[in-house]
Amino acid sequence: MTAPYPLEGDLGEILVTAEQIKTRVDELGAQIADDMAGKTPLLVGVLKGSVIFVSDLMRSIHGPVDIDFMAVSSYGNSTESSGVVKIIKDLDASIEGRDVILCEDIIDSGLTMQYLYEHLSNQSPASLRTCSLLVREGRTDPAVSVDYVGFELPPAFVIGYGLDAKHKYRNLPYIGTYTGD
Ligand code: IMP
Ligand code: MG
Repeated sequence: MTAPYPLEGDLGEILVTAEQIKTRVDELGAQIADDMAGKTPLLVGVLKGSVIFVSDLMRSIHGPVDIDFMAVSSYGNSTESSGVVKIIKDLDASIEGRDVILCEDIIDSGLTMQYLYEHLSNQSPASLRTCSLLVREGRTDPAVSVDYVGFELPPAFVIGYGLDAKHKYRNLPYIGTYTGD
């Protein structure tokens, strides 16, 4: 696949194509619609990385669905986890009695997901599930259980479909390895 714009040598290998993403997101949406039949799931996206995933996922749920977003501090300009999770933007509305699905772009150590899971479970949702487009193989704490997983990835830093390196490349249509510094 040709790059949609100059990548200055920052893209290595394409790991998941746009077509593979679409197929899998449609499957996840169908599964969620099925599991949540008769309910209105509230997708809680973690900004900014999950924004493209959540917008596609909600359209693949053929039934009622609602969205909200949270923002947390993440890696800054480094490709290594700081281990620090700080809420920068909280939910707009109460989740009491709601059927919440926490949606991440990628789970690496699982620290972000674990922290947000606890934060949301303290707010009396009717149910709380977790969803991540990507899970990094062999890195994630087995204590973090993810109900809906898009793809498992090898331990390489990746860009595209919402994921950035130094605030760039979120708008690539595929997911590929990052070869910059
Ligand atoms: P964790 O807390 O270690 O699981 O890190 C999760 C967060 O780190 C994700 O929500 C991303 O924002 C970011 N992150 C982890 N790996 C990558 C990657 O390969 N590319 C871009 N962002 C990543
Ligand atoms: Mg993130």
